[in-house]
Amino acid sequence: MNHFAKRSLLKEIDFTPSELTYLIDFAIHLKQLKQQHIPHHYLQGKNIALLFEKTSTRTRSAFTVAAVDLGAHPEFLGKNDIQFGKKESTADTAKVLGAMFDGIEYRGFAQDTVEQLAQYSGVPVWNGLTDQWHPTQMIADFMTLKEHFGHLQGLTLTYVGDGRNNMGNSLLVTAALLGVNIHIGAPAALQPSADVVAMAKAAAAKSGSEVLITADPEEAVAGADALYTDVWISMGEDVAPQERIKQLLPYQINANLVAKTGKADTIIMHCLPAYHDKNTVVGQALEDEFGVTALEITDDVFNSEQAVVFQEAENRLHSIKAIMAATLGDLFIPDQLFD
Ligand code: CP
Ligand code: NVA
Repeated sequence: MNHFAKRSLLKEIDFTPSELTYLIDFAIHLKQLKQQHIPHHYLQGKNIALLFEKTSTRTRSAFTVAAVDLGAHPEFLGKNDIQFGKKESTADTAKVLGAMFDGIEYRGFAQDTVEQLAQYSGVPVWNGLTDQWHPTQMIADFMTLKEHFGHLQGLTLTYVGDGRNNMGNSLLVTAALLGVNIHIGAPAALQPSADVVAMAKAAAAKSGSEVLITADPEEAVAGADALYTDVWISMGEDVAPQERIKQLLPYQINANLVAKTGKADTIIMHCLPAYHDKNTVVGQALEDEFGVTALEITDDVFNSEQAVVFQEAENRLHSIKAIMAATLGDLFIPDQLFD
């Protein structure tokens, strides 16, 4: 019996808090197996399709290495390599891939696409990021928090920046599900939509988490155990950079904002890629144009002792492995473990 067998991970709210916790703990276990060189071939002989409409470093690498570590064969299908999106519908693509592959990862734009892939393929589908949600990132991030603090319930996580993007949505809902207090600091125009806030508040009422959405960056960061941000313009977004930077500069994670947490040991998180270095091509362009460090996080904070950003990145591997093994592996995970 495997409680997770054949399920897709399309968005966090489809899973209960105890199921998400199981995946986090399973990821921590798989990390230990990897570190001790203990084989864990739960997907021996399986084939995994990796469908990417957007670029990726971490998600693509994590799915690839996780599949190989689990004994499966990963096949990268980039948007320019296959018929998908041009000559062939999502439903037809799903039926073809589902007939050949045992599981499908999808990264792209519309949430509807990943939902359709799950509907028509007949195999587990894992959302590797859409415009709306980034659920595999959540297992890695809450795993990182648990590794650092030893528990999740009662922690306070603050996310500052674009509160309407995939990361804002996913952090808000996942924290609320897992009993982590969640503060979102964003200007009114970039605060999460009413339906996502309602979803989070309903989850928070059950878990005991506190939800705070505010335009005041200082109010948002007060008391934060973890301070999180993301790029100010997401992949595929068509917005004027000048306007977005003007809106979000007050929410930049810098030493001044970190001090406003009122805590000495707040950790710094970012899903990456991050714009933190004005000596990069993007950083220099922003600096030239705006004459200020128009980056979502300053270099000193990004490289500080308190930053756990590369631990999060490594944890993408272990958490994606847990998600694939749980939903596709021949494992004994009894229903009785879950509410
Ligand atoms: N955090 C994350 O999803 O990174 P990639 O875009 O590199 O996959
Ligand atoms: N919000 C970012 C996340 C990247 C991992 C984007 O969608 O580009």
